[in-house]
Amino acid sequence: MAKGKRTALITGITGQDGSYLAEFLLARGYVVYGVIRRSSTFNIDRIEHLYQDPHARDYRLRLVYGNLTDASRITQLLAEIRPDEIYNLGAQSHVKVSFEQPEYTGDVDAVGVTRLLESVRSLGLKSRIYQACSSEMFGNAPAPQSEATAMLPRSPYAAAKAYAFWMCRTYREAYGLFIANGILFNHESPRRGPTFVTRKITRAVARIKAGLQDKLYLGNLDARRDWGYAPDYVEGMWRMLQQRQPDDFVLATGESHSVREFCELAFARVNLDWRRYVKRDKRYLRPAEVDHLCGDAAKARRVLGWKPRVTFTELVNLMVDADVEAVQAGRDDFRSEERWFK
Ligand code: NAP
Ligand code: GDD
Repeated sequence: MAKGKRTALITGITGQDGSYLAEFLLARGYVVYGVIRRSSTFNIDRIEHLYQDPHARDYRLRLVYGNLTDASRITQLLAEIRPDEIYNLGAQSHVKVSFEQPEYTGDVDAVGVTRLLESVRSLGLKSRIYQACSSEMFGNAPAPQSEATAMLPRSPYAAAKAYAFWMCRTYREAYGLFIANGILFNHESPRRGPTFVTRKITRAVARIKAGLQDKLYLGNLDARRDWGYAPDYVEGMWRMLQQRQPDDFVLATGESHSVREFCELAFARVNLDWRRYVKRDKRYLRPAEVDHLCGDAAKARRVLGWKPRVTFTELVNLMVDADVEAVQAGRDDFRSEERWFK
């Protein structure tokens, strides 16, 4: 461990949020340990640009193998690294997939959190912990949703996140651990996974404009979400761990829009009329839907001094522009998951 430097451990560093959080922490001088899963393809596209030579003097981004399903490895890593801060972002994060893999989703997103908490507790670490909870936990509780809103999960993913939320509260109250639950509403970026609706739309827009695709098939166009920009949200995670007391915080823009509105704006960005290209396909409907998420982040604004910087229109535009540029540069990686599962 580097002396004098703050040390953070991130699970889920290869994901959208993990990559932005790693950038954010490295820029602040942290030594960052990223937990990655062993796979037959080396899956680090989102953090490749952060590579540091292990022999360099200021080598501060270190990858280690691990998995939230593997308690002994988590304990071993924490015992060796003894991080000042732990950001638990690792998860099976796709709501629709959680209906297909409910048991696995619970193992990683729910019990995985217990494994982490038990390791910290049993090692007697003073690490501050950020737990990635989700607005999905509110289900169809009426909008706007805040920290005081009842949780009414409507998916295996949401139920697992709600379990994690309450385990974190339990370990905070029972053992005095510093744990902050971040209840984050949807946040997107050009690094968003291609089967989440925003990125699915912006990639299709770019490909349709370039003549590489002719239709976009979607499920429920009426669902409303509170969509923000991921880099704004990772700063909020960090702020939660810099407080004197651990607490739970909603991060959100306070504005909601429908999937239909997202389509309208995204296609309009390249002067196309979305109605000519978007088709409905039942396979993208969920067994139970969350109709309307819109967050009230007044507490985060007041206590953390946090507020989102990027507006909805700016978000749509920057995502479309990034995908158009990728297609033009031949970097359009229309590969496996999106083609096979859409
Ligand atoms: P993401 O892009 O899907 O990334 C998920 C990360 O978790 C990936 O690095 C993935 O590794 C890792 N992971 C999956 N299973 C794991 C396991 N068994 N052990 C260790 N790591 C594992 O998700 P995201 O959008 O960045 O979201 C980050 C976290 O915030 C997640 O917990 C998500 O549920 C939560 N969240 C996200 C949003 C949002 O709008 N983005 C909102 C609320 C909450 P691989 O790369 O190997 O798959
Ligand atoms: N993925 C997807 N694909 N969603 C579609 C589609 C489609 O073809 N058509 C319509 N939708 C609707 C979904 O039914 C949902 O109402 C909405 O678009 C958003 O879906 P996703 O982008 O998959 O995100 P999510 O809201 O289910 O979950 C995301 O946000 C949560 C926070 O509220 C994920 O990032 C979760 O990990 C996160 O916790």
